[in-house]
Amino acid sequence: MPNAQPYRALLHLGILLSGRGSNFLAIADSIREGRLPGVEISVVISNVPDAPGLKTAQQMGLPAAAFDSRGRKREAHEADVVACLRQHNVDLVCLAGYMRLLSPAFVAAFPHRILNIHPSLLPAFPGLEAQEQAFVYGVKIAGCSVHFVDEELDHGAILVQRAIPVLETDDAHTLAARILAEEHKAYTEAIAMVASGEYEIRGRRYVRHNA
Ligand code: GRF
Repeated sequence: MPNAQPYRALLHLGILLSGRGSNFLAIADSIREGRLPGVEISVVISNVPDAPGLKTAQQMGLPAAAFDSRGRKREAHEADVVACLRQHNVDLVCLAGYMRLLSPAFVAAFPHRILNIHPSLLPAFPGLEAQEQAFVYGVKIAGCSVHFVDEELDHGAILVQRAIPVLETDDAHTLAARILAEEHKAYTEAIAMVASGEYEIRGRRYVRHNA
């Protein structure tokens, strides 16, 4: 067929967030500005009904849903979230400041199809307040990681890492702000790598085909 474009299936993202949602917004900006062709946000879900990021999604006219996790059993809460992701035909789940550990059952529902962003160069400083942990530890290089989610905290195969120097003049807040600026670039890079479809996961390694 003349002038046929290569067929590219749409990649439907489901964003999970609990807070301000700046990583979500960075992804949305990348889509709007044409940096993620073939990618769209199908739904934004929060476990915190008044999360600012959820409000932003609503203002942008995106499908948005809240499933309050307070006082609910993990399985019941996750079942609602997974059902909502399925309803919206989500094929890549992006955790963007989602402050909940996913159960093995949730992870198995989207095998190698859940990404997380973490504000440290993993495996250093998993868990909460990673930027502060790095600052207090005295590292000279800090950064962020986007990785596939597996059953362990901040652990799965790494897609992208971006590093920055820790400056003499930094405090934990200025360092966190500069890491956040890198996070916003890293998430788009990682989604593009998944959207390309031309890779495999060997052990813990993302390996691009024909690299
Ligand atoms: C980011 O620092 C991310 O790395 C961590 O939680 C924070 C979320 O920030 N997982 P935002 O809600 O995307 O602004």
